[in-house]
Amino acid sequence: MFITLEGGEGAGKSTQARRLAAHLAQRGAVLLTREPGGAPGAEATRGLLLSRAWDPRAEMLLHFAARREHVARSIRPALAAGAAVVCDRFADSTYAYQVGGQGGDAALWRMLVDGTLEGVWPARTFLLDMPVEAGLARAAARGETNRYEALDIGFHQRVREAFHMQAAREPARWRVIDAAQPLDAVTAAMLAAL
Ligand code: TMP
Repeated sequence: MFITLEGGEGAGKSTQARRLAAHLAQRGAVLLTREPGGAPGAEATRGLLLSRAWDPRAEMLLHFAARREHVARSIRPALAAGAAVVCDRFADSTYAYQVGGQGGDAALWRMLVDGTLEGVWPARTFLLDMPVEAGLARAAARGETNRYEALDIGFHQRVREAFHMQAAREPARWRVIDAAQPLDAVTAAMLAAL
C-alpha cells in the first residue's frame, strides 16, 4: 500500500510518517521516504529546489524530475517487493504549492502526473491540517526555515485551500486529520482511518 502524508508547514508530517511507518513495520516491510528526495538524484534536486528561486515552470519540472527518480528507483521497486510505502509529501504538494500557492499551470501539473508517474499513485492520503499561523509558528520554532516557509501568509493560505480542494475532489483517497491535536491523537486518527 502506498500512503502519503500532506499538509502545510509545521503540521508534523515527518513525525507522523515515522510513527505510522513504525506501526506498519510490526506487520511487514515498510519504506519510509520523503519528497523532494527519497533517491540519490532526487535528494540532490531537493538541494537545488530549496536553495534558490526558479522560474515557476522550471520549478514544477524540477519537482517532477525528482519525483520521477523517486518513483522509478525507490517507490515502485518497494511496492513491487510487497512493502508498504509511507511518503512524506508527493504530487499533491506540487499541486498545493506550485499551482495553488504560486498560481502555476494546473494543466501542466496534470500532464506531468500522467506522463511521469506511470500510474504510481497513493491509495491513501492524509491531510494533516491546521491553521496556517499555528503551523508557521511551529516551523519557525524548529529553527532553520526553507525558502517556502519564508513566503507570506497569503501564499500559505492558498496552499491550505488547494489541499482542501484536492481532498474534496478525491474523497475516497483523502482523510483530513486535525493536526493541532496531541501527537498521539493524530497517530491514532491515522491508524483508525487505515
Ligand atoms: P518539507 O519541509 O516537508 O521537507 O518540504 C520541503 C519544502 O518543499 C516544503 O516547504 C514544501 C515544498 N514542496 C513544494 O513546494 N512542492 C513539492 O512538490 C514538494 C514535494 C515540496
